[in-house]
Amino acid sequence: MVDLIIAPSVLSADFSRFSAAVAEIDASGAEWVHLDVMDGQFVPNITFGPKLLADLRPRTRAVFDAHLMINNPEAFIPQFAKAGADYITFHLEAAVHSHRILASIRELGKKAGISIVPSTPVSALAELLPLTDLVLVMTVNPGFGGQKLIPSCIDKVRSLTQIRSERKLEFLISVDGGINEETAAAARLAGVDVLVTGATFFNASDKAELVKSLKGC
Ligand code: DX5
Ligand code: ZN
Repeated sequence: MVDLIIAPSVLSADFSRFSAAVAEIDASGAEWVHLDVMDGQFVPNITFGPKLLADLRPRTRAVFDAHLMINNPEAFIPQFAKAGADYITFHLEAAVHSHRILASIRELGKKAGISIVPSTPVSALAELLPLTDLVLVMTVNPGFGGQKLIPSCIDKVRSLTQIRSERKLEFLISVDGGINEETAAAARLAGVDVLVTGATFFNASDKAELVKSLKGC
């Protein structure tokens, strides 16, 4: 098993201090920065757009994990690619031509991610998995940080791990929503590779200790 990747989400940071948040993520030993983009349409909340990524890009070498919770993602993907996202993840539920969108992300030289909300089954991804570098399993209904993980979503990680090995595919599996030391252990047992953590990370007084403990799950 490869080392767990920790991806703190700046959704739970102080929005007047994003660069300080990124510095805290770097200092904690986490490798990725998770950037939750919300449009007030696909989800009932609004966050930020590509300019934030572009402005933060020179401040860190961390991997930028852009999670687009927006309708019509294809219209904005080139802007996020240009802004310096490394992984660009959109929602299956927000797109019609997901197959084409995944291919277009790779054509832009970026890692292509797809996400499913709790009500979407893993089977809906069957045709897309060979084109995917990251499957982001939402473990809460998207829109807000600090929610409680929905335990049945962990079963999806188990299914994806099994499918990945049966079909000899190589995508990473990420979980997003309600991750703390306890739920992280369950996700790890199910085979997850990337832990997104918002509230738990930004509420932790010792972030390096938290990252160490999450990695040791
Ligand atoms: C929720 C976002 C998450 C959020 C997770 O819609 O996609 O990335 O930041 O936050 P926590 O870890 O607080 O549940
Ligand atoms: Zn997210």
